[in-house]
Amino acid sequence: MRKIYIFDTTLRDGEQSPGVNLNTKEKVEIALQLEKLGVDRIEAGFPAASPGDLAAVNAVASAVKNATIIGLSRSREQDIDAVREALKGAQDPSIHVFLATSPIHRKHKLRMEKEQVLETAERAITYAKKYFSKIEFSLEDAGRTELDFVCQMTDMAIRAGASVVNLPDTVGYLNPLEYGNIFKTVKENVPNIEKIQLSAHCHDDLGMATANALAAILNGADQIEGTINGIGERAGNTALEEVALALETRFDYFGAKTGLNLQEIARTSRLVSKLTGMVIPGNKAIVGANAFAHESGIHQDGMLKEKTTYEIISPETIGLRDSKLVLGKHSGRHAFREKLIDLGYELDEEAVNVAFAKFKDLADRKKHVTDEDIRAFLEEKLVDT
Ligand code: KIV
Ligand code: ZN
Repeated sequence: MRKIYIFDTTLRDGEQSPGVNLNTKEKVEIALQLEKLGVDRIEAGFPAASPGDLAAVNAVASAVKNATIIGLSRSREQDIDAVREALKGAQDPSIHVFLATSPIHRKHKLRMEKEQVLETAERAITYAKKYFSKIEFSLEDAGRTELDFVCQMTDMAIRAGASVVNLPDTVGYLNPLEYGNIFKTVKENVPNIEKIQLSAHCHDDLGMATANALAAILNGADQIEGTINGIGERAGNTALEEVALALETRFDYFGAKTGLNLQEIARTSRLVSKLTGMVIPGNKAIVGANAFAHESGIHQDGMLKEKTTYEIISPETIGLRDSKLVLGKHSGRHAFREKLIDLGYELDEEAVNVAFAKFKDLADRKKHVTDEDIRAFLEEKLVDT
């Protein structure tokens, strides 16, 4: 079976979400949960960014035993040395070196010609190679880079000794057809491409991060980078839980899976939300509170008869106990009657009708009718009669 490697960057790109700042203890707690989830690689931080980040990466490297621990580095010797220092205690260390390649970044940010970009990156990879056997090189803003230059940079990275080449859509600009085409072109044109893994790293500025990651898989990507709950710089990164469940649910189409222990997804998602303070929107795919909740009467009736009518994933798959039938104004008699049984009330048909009318009346005034609300008007009715 084709395996897609998961590179989790919740602790690095995820921590770049505005307003998020994880301390060392929190980073270690998340890293240990990511290990339980079974991610292959954990990017623990950017050691050159601050002494605190270096210390946190160091603590994660000592705590985690079953995943590769990665530190981010610009294409500079000082940054590479900071990653060496941070990863001293790691069982399986790796470095992630990057340099921007797009015309916009070359002109305005780096002020470098293509030749200088090639040379700077090659020098950095060669230097990193003295200390690391596993090196990922990223072409920052590959998505807006000339395709022939993407191929040239990838070729250089392979010859210099990178083991993974990452082609990020740094600003979330591409659509799935365009992003997939980058992978296809690189696969078809770069010599010795089979010697390395190709990685996809997408941002969600236009809401296409997951679709783009899946397009990369269809065009030969070996690794997906992303974060739990899709947190990250600006609109965030690819949500790893979405990729994992898309592959799992549509194995018939993709023919590939991650090695994730899917039952840990809900727990990991809650922990990341709690420690980052980033609330998960109710309608967030896979991990939002409403992802397995059904309100309409037609849907509830279908669910009560056969769950696959309205659920393509069972909540148990991601470690949740059950789906929820939420009672509101769209709910029907079938779900209401089930709720009465759940709450321990055995009412005859006429009493159910009276209770259902009261429920509908309340539901028109209140968004969600809770168990307490139902108990309250039923008890009131029993007292009345
Ligand atoms: O989005 C990006 O390009 C990055 C790089 C550092 C890989 O996060
Ligand atoms: Zn990124």
